[in-house]
Parts: sequence; C-alpha cells; structure tokens
Amino acid sequence: MDTTVFKDIINKKTEMINDILERFLPEEEGYFEIISRPVNYSVRAGGKRLRPLLLLESYLLCGGSEEKTDYIAPFLAGIEYIHTYSLVHDDLPAMDNDMLRRGKPTTHAKFGEDFGILAGDGLLNLAYETMLDAAGKDNTGCAVRAAAVIAKKAGIYGMVGGQSLDVHLTGKAIQPDELDFIFKLKTGALIEAVFAAGAILAGADEETVKVCERMGSHVGMAFQIKDDLLDITGTEEEIGKPVNSDEKNNKTTYVTLFGQEKAEADVYAHTKKALELLEKTGDNKFLCSLIKYMAERKS
Ligand code: IPE
Ligand code: IPE
Ligand code: MG
Ligand code: MG
Ligand code: MG
Repeated sequence: MDTTVFKDIINKKTEMINDILERFLPEEEGYFEIISRPVNYSVRAGGKRLRPLLLLESYLLCGGSEEKTDYIAPFLAGIEYIHTYSLVHDDLPAMDNDMLRRGKPTTHAKFGEDFGILAGDGLLNLAYETMLDAAGKDNTGCAVRAAAVIAKKAGIYGMVGGQSLDVHLTGKAIQPDELDFIFKLKTGALIEAVFAAGAILAGADEETVKVCERMGSHVGMAFQIKDDLLDITGTEEEIGKPVNSDEKNNKTTYVTLFGQEKAEADVYAHTKKALELLEKTGDNKFLCSLIKYMAERKS
C-alpha cells in the first residue's frame, strides 16, 4: 500500500478509535472527579492505539462488516483501557519508575503514586464493565468469548504473568528461555488477544481464530524486540518516553542478550512469519501495511 494512502487511512482510523475511547470514559463530576481525572488523563495522553487498530483489522480480515463497528466498539475501548492501565502501573516507582509517557508526565508523576495505582485499577475495571455490558446484549455468544480471551491473556497467564517475571528478574542475569517467556506474556499475550478477539467477533471458525492468535504472537514478539531497540536507538521526542530506561533499571533486554544486529534481524523474521500467516488467512492490505509499519516504526 502506498505510504500516503496508508498514513491517511491510519489517521482516520485512529481518530475513530479516539472517539470510541471517549464514549465510555467516566464523567469528571462530584467526588468522582478525584479518580476520573487521572483515568481520563491517562487515556487522553495519546499513544499509537495499535491494539484497537489490530483488533479492528483482524475482525475485518475474518469477514467482519465495516458497518458494524458499533458492535466491536466496546472491545476496541476495552483493550486500550487495559493496555493503558498496564502502562500506568509499569511506570510506577515500584516498577520501571519512569516520569514520561506518551510525551507527557506519567500518571503517577502528575497525580501521585496513590492515584497511579487507583487510575490503573479504575481503567482495568472500566474495560470489563464496557466489554461485559456489550456481551450481555449479544446473543451470538461471540462477545462473551472475546471478553473471556482478553481476560485470560491480560491476567496471570498473560500480561500480568509476564510483567511478574520481568520485575522478578530485574537486575539479574536472564536466560534466553526466561526472556522468551517474558516477551510472549508481557507484550505478546495482549496482541494475541486482539487478533483472536477480532476473529471471534467476526464469527470465524476455531482454526482461523488459532491462526490469527499465532499471527498476533509473531507481531507481539517483533513489537517488544523493537521496543527494546527503540529504548536505546530512539530519542525521547520520538518515543515520548525516557530513553535508556532499561539500562537505568538494569534490565536484560533482547539487545543486551543477543546484540543489536540479531535484534533487528529478528524483528523482521517475526514480521515475515506474521505476514505469511496473514496471506493464508485472507485479504487485508491495510493490516499488511500496519504490521510492516510496526516493524519500522520510530515511536
Ligand atoms: C508500550 O506499548 C508498551 C509495550 C508493550 C512495549 P506501545 O508502544 O503500544 O505504547 P502506546 O500505547 O503507543 O503509548
Ligand atoms: C512493558 O514493557 C510492557 C507492559 C506490559 C506494560 P516495557 O517496560 O519495556 O514498556 P515501556 O518501554 O515502558 O513502554
Ligand atoms: Mg516494564
Ligand atoms: Mg517500562
Ligand atoms: Mg520498553
């Protein structure tokens, strides 16, 4: 896909997702303002919105209708609320202790550590309120299955499990299989979840859902390797978060373990595998360009 066409489409889709995110955010009213402000600040700070974008594209790839975006809107919002909560907590002093996110002060830097914790808690619950409300109105059973996949992949057997080993091994020597576990779970699991949920919501069969999940696994691995690379090769302005945060925290990363050259090669190897699976599954040129863009991104 032509770069200008791609940029135009991604901007329009991101705008649509930003509108959807607004739809379910809490009112800043009365005493609720105390928690709604840090919650809304965290979501409105920006970000690439890649997880809702990927969920939408997986849905379209598997035959979902462009006209039915209202049907999947609660899931686009839910996944971004979960992702945003994971970042708010990841930045806390007890974890990566970072002060900049999405080009703005982190939630705890602006509202205090207590409200960093509470905003994350609030966002996580808001995600399930939003998705389960939709699941209750859907009599196909697809929405409840999608919510269940997201719940599992965001939890102990997914993102939380990965973050736990990441935190546990901070400052220690890491074996390749441990780093693989961390990457597959802390970042890969949510990306697998969006690919699987998109397919499920489109009514895809079990086999297709599994292929989409595998596609997500490769996209997720490429994504975290690239994130480790950007931590050293990016600029604060481009990535909107502090550079060399991993070094500051004595983290073993893909780059420190395998070197920059292999890291760069593996971003492309995983991207290639994802694109092969995509080609087998169906026709979505924008998704193809999006996966390539993620490998080449500067932010
Ligand atoms: C950052 O995710 C955390 C990782 C899993 C590497 P993103 O790079 O998608 O962050 P935003 O949403 O664009 O801020
Ligand atoms: C965090 O990985 C992934 C999450 C699940 C939040 P990082 O700690 O490398 O993410 P950044 O670099 O702070 O965005
Ligand atoms: Mg971290
Ligand atoms: Mg971090
Ligand atoms: Mg990082």
